[in-house]
Amino acid sequence: MAELIVAPSLLSADFSNLEREIELVKKSKAKWIHFDVMDGHFVPNISFGSKVLADVSKLSDLFLDVHLMITDPDKYAETFVRAGADLITFHYEVFDDYDVCLELIQKIKALGAQVGISVKPKTVTNAVLPLLRHLNLILVMSVEPGFGGQKFQEQALSKIRDLRKYIDRNHLKCLIEVDGGIDEFTGPRCREAGVDVLVAGSYLFGHADLPERVERLFE
Ligand code: DX5
Ligand code: ZN
Repeated sequence: MAELIVAPSLLSADFSNLEREIELVKKSKAKWIHFDVMDGHFVPNISFGSKVLADVSKLSDLFLDVHLMITDPDKYAETFVRAGADLITFHYEVFDDYDVCLELIQKIKALGAQVGISVKPKTVTNAVLPLLRHLNLILVMSVEPGFGGQKFQEQALSKIRDLRKYIDRNHLKCLIEVDGGIDEFTGPRCREAGVDVLVAGSYLFGHADLPERVERLFE
């Protein structure tokens, strides 16, 4: 198994003191920060945009994993890359079309960032399999996107297993990430199923022992 990556989701952080929150992440074994962008259209919630990302990028050298839950990823991808995104993930459901997805993947790569595609719980992974060879990451949503603190949906595990098989069988480099309801119990189960990156928001932020909690995800 490749080394696990933990990506704390800033959505559950205290925005009145982001510097302190990021200092806590820096003390932990987490190497990434997961940054959830919501537009109130693709999901029924609004979070934060590129200015916040640009400010966050000044606070650390952590890898910035930007999850776009927006209806116009093609319009805003460049803004987020310029603001410091290392990886941009957009949702397959926005386009639901191989060619249009491939075009945006290539555009983001040309801007100098890595690219991921995300699938909601009800989207079957078969649709994205032909795209995996072009991707750095596939993000399996284990909750309906939009809010932190929801319960992990079990069907994510079989999706992760299927993707793991496909990626290994075809010798692809694409990482598998899971997002939603991840804690010390669900995280290791996703790990067994073959996940590479665990996103965790409410399990980590709001807890002074964040570094110890990250550590538990590695056990
Ligand atoms: C939900 C977001 C998640 C969210 C996860 O739409 O994509 O990244 O922050 O939060 P938890 O870990 O609390 O489920
Ligand atoms: Zn997310």
